[in-house]
Amino acid sequence: MDELYKGRDIADLYQKYRPTYPDKVMENIIKYLRSHRPDSDLSSTFDLMVDVGCGSAQSTNMFAPYFKNIVGVDASEDQIEFARKQNKFNHIKYLVGKAESLPFDDNSVDLVTCGASVHWFDLKEFFDEVSRILKPNGCLTLFTYNCTKLYPLYAYDEASSKATTDITWLLCELELRGNPRGEWILKECWNGYKDIFKQIPFPSKQREETVSVLHSMSFEEICGLIHSAIGHRNLIKRRKELEKIFGNGVPNDQGEFDLLKAIERKVKNIWNQDKQTKFCMELEIFLIMASMSSL
Ligand SMILES: C[S@@+](CC[C@H](N)C(=O)[O-])C[C@H]1O[C@@H](n2cnc3c(N)ncnc32)[C@H](O)[C@@H]1O
Repeated sequence: MDELYKGRDIADLYQKYRPTYPDKVMENIIKYLRSHRPDSDLSSTFDLMVDVGCGSAQSTNMFAPYFKNIVGVDASEDQIEFARKQNKFNHIKYLVGKAESLPFDDNSVDLVTCGASVHWFDLKEFFDEVSRILKPNGCLTLFTYNCTKLYPLYAYDEASSKATTDITWLLCELELRGNPRGEWILKECWNGYKDIFKQIPFPSKQREETVSVLHSMSFEEICGLIHSAIGHRNLIKRRKELEKIFGNGVPNDQGEFDLLKAIERKVKNIWNQDKQTKFCMELEIFLIMASMSSL
């Protein structure tokens, strides 16, 4: 993993194009946490939350009102640099660190969250760390999203539906070819973290209802989102494989395969739309919550 998320370019793409989460996700999590704290009322704040695999803060800021301190941890220095740059809160800090060795005291954390990240971790080591750092009534929450529909705004018809499948397949193909763990990760995400759920070693664990959310996106944002797919970073030097997916390479100024231009061309071909078209992306976010206390 470390190599895949290394680099300012990927952190930059993440910050520009990766979605954040709707309030409903955070509200469900806070409700669950409160249900394990009969002493807490609606106005009380909790001491400490840790967002593991925080990226450049896509999953962190929404929790700001509910905690005295929040720490985002990520293995990638570049992601942390971008997370720090966007930070507007004095009580949120960002640290470079590994999910498998978290820099927190035993029994000190109220909530551990993982947004689109747990599928990268060594699960046994991560769950051991979570068990160590959580307070006895602390909670763990895992969430991520799948892109289920993507279509030109005001034009959801059969052709768009086929185009959605083609775009989803393009994303999967980049991931499957370029990311050594791509197949497992894709399977887990589409299965709602079935295996990961089984491995959570806590007496209390549950799934919340999936939250669907619609994002309006420009042509540039869609291409940027596809470009941020992690798998392509391994493919950049494997020109023949890229040409299998995208057809003849479009050279950039250095004469290398220009992936962004190739994505733009492919997206344009798939929809036969111009760059001014607005698109709609539907994300399904699933959420798992667990606690060491069975209250
Ligand atoms: C898909 S991004 C998720 C970013 C953000 N949390 C979100 O919800 O979009 C996954 C992040 O997990 C981080 N990561 C992967 N393996 C890790 C590990 N073992 N320890 C800490 N962070 C890790 C990567 O560097 C990357 O920033």
